[in-house]
Amino acid sequence: MNYINYLSIFFWVLITGLILYFAWRYRNGNKEVGPSHNTALEITWTVIPTILVISIFVWGFKTYMTLSRAPGDAMDVYVTGQKWSWSFEYPEHGVRTTNELVVPVNQPVRLVMQSSDVIHSMWLPAFRNKMDVLPGRTTTVWFEATEEGTFRFYCTEYCGDAHWNMKGDVKVVSAEAFHEWIEENSKEDTTTPLPELGAKLFQSKACFTCHTTDGTPSIGPTLKGVFGHTVELADGKTVEADEDYLRESILQPGAKIVKGFAPTMPSFQGQLSERELNGLIEYIKSLK
Ligand code: CUA
Repeated sequence: MNYINYLSIFFWVLITGLILYFAWRYRNGNKEVGPSHNTALEITWTVIPTILVISIFVWGFKTYMTLSRAPGDAMDVYVTGQKWSWSFEYPEHGVRTTNELVVPVNQPVRLVMQSSDVIHSMWLPAFRNKMDVLPGRTTTVWFEATEEGTFRFYCTEYCGDAHWNMKGDVKVVSAEAFHEWIEENSKEDTTTPLPELGAKLFQSKACFTCHTTDGTPSIGPTLKGVFGHTVELADGKTVEADEDYLRESILQPGAKIVKGFAPTMPSFQGQLSERELNGLIEYIKSLK
């Protein structure tokens, strides 16, 4: 960048300076006639810029290859973009998170990304990195964080109502803290009481992006007071909101669409254990 910048400044000064000088020297009224042809000069001003342009290409191409190909020891994290959250899966550890990417410091990390619906785009401004996330195609992006801390990432491709809220944090931690975190998250939570577990999942799975718990309408229906009540569906039928209905709506959201809402919710099939599912149902029940 600096190389191109300084080259540009040098030639800008040189060319503008010569224009001004010649404009003055051959001004109207000066009878002096300038030289018309100089082969040595023409070869020089062709060869030197050619070499400079080739050097920009070689340097730029090397940098491009470094940016686009992760080092061999990079840690893979699978990323799925969906309306409207990001999920991360650590293949070697069986850990899965939503809107939170935890990585060790000084460790190359490769994100293997795909979308389950529309085009999203992963933007990690602190790491100067950005890559589209597409349905039906895998894209990758890699980075190596050199400092511990919390950094934002965003979806930077307009993908619908809650595009603005499709964001999260990269937490860069020490290698020891990372292993502790993996340890903690790879075993199933069997002790937290169900409604509390559900409340946690409601945050960590980003359910709040579309559902409120206080009665205000959002992209999806509010969950306040839904349990035990009759729900009007888009096809004109009604359904009693019991455990079975809640379970179905989490696993197959398209099965029964609530009147007045679009069928945009992704399926959570395979993303929740039985206990987690019960936790969410208990949590929704508690929203009286
Ligand atoms: Cu996903 Cu914008």
